[in-house]
Amino acid sequence: MAEKLERLDRAVSHAFGISRTIAARAIKAGRVAVDGQEAADPSLKIQKTATLSLDGEDVGVEDAFAKRVFMLNKPAGYVSADRDANFPTVAGFFQGEARSEELHCVGRLDADTTGLLLVTDDGDLNHRLTSPKKGVVKAYEALTRDPIKASDAKAFASGLRHPEEHSRYRPAQLVTTGEKSAVVYVTEGRFHEVKRLFECVGNEVTELRRLSIGRLELDDSLDEGEYRMLGKDELALLFEAPESWQDPEKS
Ligand code: URA
Repeated sequence: MAEKLERLDRAVSHAFGISRTIAARAIKAGRVAVDGQEAADPSLKIQKTATLSLDGEDVGVEDAFAKRVFMLNKPAGYVSADRDANFPTVAGFFQGEARSEELHCVGRLDADTTGLLLVTDDGDLNHRLTSPKKGVVKAYEALTRDPIKASDAKAFASGLRHPEEHSRYRPAQLVTTGEKSAVVYVTEGRFHEVKRLFECVGNEVTELRRLSIGRLELDDSLDEGEYRMLGKDELALLFEAPESWQDPEKS
């Protein structure tokens, strides 16, 4: 079966991170080749399997359109959004990337939450990771104002109800790691979910950091504000449950 076709100017724009207008100009100026043959018509339809050259630099069309997924070590003080009237956004970290306007956060971390945030131009993947139906497990390290009570793990596992929510939270797993620290596993990703779970048991989160999504952990070689692209193997980890996750709905 023939591969889907792409317009040459669009493919050149993607492949070399330049605008469609500049791509069309480069094509008309004879600076572009398709599979080694000079191509001067911006509207030419090319195969997805073709290789493009601009001034002698080669890029496969398939690679040019490959979706990107980045992991960011989000610092506190940044909003998980493309733009915001009052605060800096995580989008600012990606301004140097080609087609940065196509990159969006996978879900949201509160401005004061730090840690693992994914940013992608793959809308389908974004939906699969954030849809509560998919039950992707997200783990957070929480520090709390007051000591965590022995009864809290049971309460989290029971499916708590917050006064500002219409329905109960899906059961969550609470693993106490210190007098005022814990790792919390959730599968929904509702607004302020971890903070509100603690509010339900009369406590308050003072610091929150996302550690992992599925079995993908934050790369601790990334300083705050640094990011890197995920590989294919890492993408598969996102949909696997972490080893320490014990689904409270099944126990
Ligand atoms: N739960 C919260 O309360 N805040 C976050 O940023 C993420 C999960």
